[in-house]
Amino acid sequence: MGWAVFMQKSPSSRTLLISVGFFLIVVCPMNSVKEQLPCLSSTYTPATPTKCIHTQVDIDRFTKTKAFSRLLTFVILLNASVTQKPNSYPCHVSQQTQRVLDMLDTLDSWLAEFPPLGNPQRFGNKAFRQWLNKVESNADTIMQTTLPSSMHAAIPELSVYLTGSFGNGTRIDYGSGHELNFLAWLGGVAMLGGFTEQDYEAIVLKIFVKYLELARKIQRTYTLEPAGSHGVWGLDDHQFLPYIWGSAQMIGHPRLKPKSILNKDTIEAMANENMYFRCIQYIHQVKRGPFHEHSPMLFDISAVLTWNKVNTGMVKMYIAEVLKKVPVVQHFLFGHLFPFEPLDNQ
Ligand SMILES: *[C@@H]1O[C@H](CO)[C@@H](O)[C@H](O)[C@H]1NC(C)=O
Ligand SMILES: *[C@@H]1O[C@H](CO)[C@@H](O)[C@H](O)[C@H]1NC(C)=O
Repeated sequence: MGWAVFMQKSPSSRTLLISVGFFLIVVCPMNSVKEQLPCLSSTYTPATPTKCIHTQVDIDRFTKTKAFSRLLTFVILLNASVTQKPNSYPCHVSQQTQRVLDMLDTLDSWLAEFPPLGNPQRFGNKAFRQWLNKVESNADTIMQTTLPSSMHAAIPELSVYLTGSFGNGTRIDYGSGHELNFLAWLGGVAMLGGFTEQDYEAIVLKIFVKYLELARKIQRTYTLEPAGSHGVWGLDDHQFLPYIWGSAQMIGHPRLKPKSILNKDTIEAMANENMYFRCIQYIHQVKRGPFHEHSPMLFDISAVLTWNKVNTGMVKMYIAEVLKKVPVVQHFLFGHLFPFEPLDNQ
């Protein structure tokens, strides 16, 4: 599958040819998208998250769970909150948001303690494990500082998502499943009352933007392998969500179209203000050769006529390529914040 979702009106037959292998009609479970996340602050009971997805059969059940609904609802609510807003949009930064930003700065500062080991490994510098060990052993303490005491009972559960957000220490890789863990951590904090809808703009434009820069710094410092990647046929080696929210930021832009991502000057001018362009800039920083060769899917998506269509396509593709892919979500753990229980459709 992939970008069959973009193709309805695309004029490019080249795209159709290249993407044949990915075709699949998406039955989009949009009925699981709710108007808001549930509030769990008074009903939370500590749970140890467990693995619930083992094979393809579990994926169909997953799409009907509360967990799936909460993850997708959060993505869509955040999408709406940043539509047409650049990164520098003067959004509300609450004390809670600021404490999360400070937490990310702390995690970033620990990287200096674990420089990449000299013995040059092409992929997967083992010093990453030392940094991740420090994050794991300090996760509880750092969350006690970051989160109000009313939320401390949830720290063991939140810890699973936070420590899963930066890559796998055994495999020394990073991919959209790790990005999903950070989304789950933020969603968990939101459901426990740490964030309100007023904070959604800042969750994306401040917190997630900072998280992505940290994730990129980690990827570069320790040459993390792309996890669960389709290689050249995937969207991006490491990230996915910034393409959803970045395209939402561009909806209705007076001048720039999806094809503007092919212009180097535009990329440089936009990268600080837009998550999509920053992704493209980063790809140019880490890859050599013509863009259409190392990133054919992004190249072909640039032929889609409007940002709105790119945005809709990206969400459908996120469902098909991340949320419904066993190799990605088999590592996701389910507890009280994200229950693997059927959604009761009132
Ligand atoms: C993202 O939000 C904007 C603004 O509400 C909306 O126009 C767009 O359709 C949304 N995208 C998806 C996939 O829901
Ligand atoms: C990391 O990868 C190893 C090896 O594939 C796997 O056993 C382990 O479950 C992974 N850890 C997480 C947290 O996903």
